[in-house]
Amino acid sequence: PASARVLPSGGLAVGGVPLAELADRFGTPSYVVDEDEVRARARAWRAALPDADVAYAGKAFLTRAMVRWVEEEGLHLDVCSAGELELAAHAGFPGERVVLHGNAKSPDDLRTALRLGVGRVVLDNTGEVARLAALVPPGARQKVLVRVVPGIEAGAHAAVRTGVEGQKFGLSVDGGEAADAVARVLGQPRLELVGLHCHLGSQITSVDPYLAAVRKLVPFLSTLRDVHGVTFPELDLGGGFGIPYRDGEPTLDPAEYAARVRAELALRCAHVDLPVPRLAVEPGRWIAGPAGVALYRVLAVKVSGGRTFVAVDGGMSDNPRPALYGVRYTVRLAGRAGAAPDRPMTVVGRHCEAGDVLAEDVPLPGDVRPGDVLAVPASGAYHLSMASSYNLVGRPPVAAVTGGRARLLVRRETPADLWSRELPD
Ligand code: LLP
Repeated sequence: PASARVLPSGGLAVGGVPLAELADRFGTPSYVVDEDEVRARARAWRAALPDADVAYAGKAFLTRAMVRWVEEEGLHLDVCSAGELELAAHAGFPGERVVLHGNAKSPDDLRTALRLGVGRVVLDNTGEVARLAALVPPGARQKVLVRVVPGIEAGAHAAVRTGVEGQKFGLSVDGGEAADAVARVLGQPRLELVGLHCHLGSQITSVDPYLAAVRKLVPFLSTLRDVHGVTFPELDLGGGFGIPYRDGEPTLDPAEYAARVRAELALRCAHVDLPVPRLAVEPGRWIAGPAGVALYRVLAVKVSGGRTFVAVDGGMSDNPRPALYGVRYTVRLAGRAGAAPDRPMTVVGRHCEAGDVLAEDVPLPGDVRPGDVLAVPASGAYHLSMASSYNLVGRPPVAAVTGGRARLLVRRETPADLWSRELPD
């Protein structure tokens, strides 16, 4: 993990707390979040873009504590459901700093957004324009952005490429649907169009696609000015900033992003004599991912068909990402030094399908044995937020570490929790 240190015992520690101790105290599988790391990573974006709105994308990982940390660090919050929005409000997050997303917002999503006073609603289809306007009370105006498709291919996997034509998010610039939506919004007195939004995709490690987005959107903004006589004060370029999952993998650097995107934006706006809009960005994974580590205990080690399988007590119910996107992780022995990690082993979960593989052919010590604690770094984003109750295993607890101490944020899901929604029959 970014924040993990090797102890003299050979074990690993996060934020000064040995991971083996955390595994004993909270049980396994469990997730540990380094609060200081989250805060530092939030601050890195604020420092890189002091004159922009940095909205943490809550879909990556959200608990009330996480909401408070990003609130205290001065970030905004990107939510994509009434559920995320209610959680944020419950944790005291100011509505004005919330942006609501979604390609299929329910009436409840829109009503909750208005009730809690969200700062921005990002419109994703033309039908939503009139639907939202009809819910805004007389005399009020809701700030909105229109999400557009710039036609740019970026992102680690087809499932997370949202800047290309032919996928479900946003409205096409080239196809003319984006311009149509803008015209409709401008015709709604209860909506205030403050700008455009685009989100290219996720796990992007180069700044180049964002520059391409600027080169696509500024001329479009210039056309909109010529047609409607309006300029917009904001431009939200979304998130998608990549992190390393294994040693040596690249990461996107906020300072480089800020310098190059700002320069490109200033240049392109100057070309068409457009005022430079205020930027907004929406990092999710970059803030939460490296700050989290998953802890598992080894239940079985076996050789079958010439391969060594290390089976642990979690799996695809707490981390569906290898199965969904073929993502590859690092796995480390956490509680002791062990032999040199030089044997390729396949770490598998406990679920009832062969696809429940956490890490294929990763180097582990030859003496790994049942009872050992394994740590999977970079597990802070899109694990627990995508966790399921498959096989009724129960979702893992979440502990936070700061100042050399750990505290439980979310307890383990119990069997009683799992059937608590069932009604007597
Ligand atoms: N803004 C919008 C509108 C988004 O849809 C997303 C992510 C973000 C910001 C934050 O993207 P990030 O900075 O975290 O890459 N489950 C997938 C990732 C899905 C991303 C969905 N949208 C995964 O595990 O890789």
